[in-house]
Amino acid sequence: MISIKKINTLIELHKIAVLAEEIWHECFTDIISEEQIDYMVENFQSFKAMKNQVINQGYYYLAVRNDDELCGYIGVKPENDDRFFLSKLYLCKDMRGKGIATEMLRRVFGEARNIGKKSVYLTVNKHNTHAIEVYKKTGFSVIESVITDIGGGFVMDDYVMEYKL
Ligand SMILES: CC(C)(COP(=O)(O)OP(=O)(O)OC[C@H]1O[C@@H](n2cnc3c(N)ncnc32)[C@H](O)[C@@H]1OP(=O)(O)O)[C@@H](O)C(=O)NCCC(=O)NCCS
Repeated sequence: MISIKKINTLIELHKIAVLAEEIWHECFTDIISEEQIDYMVENFQSFKAMKNQVINQGYYYLAVRNDDELCGYIGVKPENDDRFFLSKLYLCKDMRGKGIATEMLRRVFGEARNIGKKSVYLTVNKHNTHAIEVYKKTGFSVIESVITDIGGGFVMDDYVMEYKL
């Protein structure tokens, strides 16, 4: 039984950080270097980074659990305009391919609609073919191509995708 619940405690956020590190090192090794994965986990997905996002930058996280076991997470941020940013959508490997991402995305759309947003947008690495296909299947389309300097000598080579609510 899958549940998707907003995270309210730092203890839960810490569990997400542990899962994030595991997932990132498993799924991005074909796309970016280990050095870049380490850098990005430290700067965007470590407990310290996520705590800062939640406390100072308007983000919040949702935990995806299979029965009671944490198996994925979602990170989002309502923008000041009419957009809703889907920052993170991650599932552990053995839970993929079961349609859970569809449920997760439906929840994201619900969160955005509830506060009157008009669209959901995200960035995805251009070589992350599977995620791009899932997003397209769900109704997202590519609106931009961006190369972002993230410091440390690294860049993110992404598509921006948008879903109109
Ligand atoms: C991205 C991710 C969350 C998607 O989850 P998933 O379990 O693989 O996707 P699902 O099986 O739930 O598929 C979602 C939908 O896309 C469809 N789909 C999946 N692969 C597809 C393909 N190649 N072409 C077309 N549609 C496809 C599925 O049929 C499903 O639709 P349905 O529910 O109507 O049947 C998961 O693969 C993941 O965590 N990957 C690693 C991390 C990552 O890359 N995250 C995204 C970073 S931007």
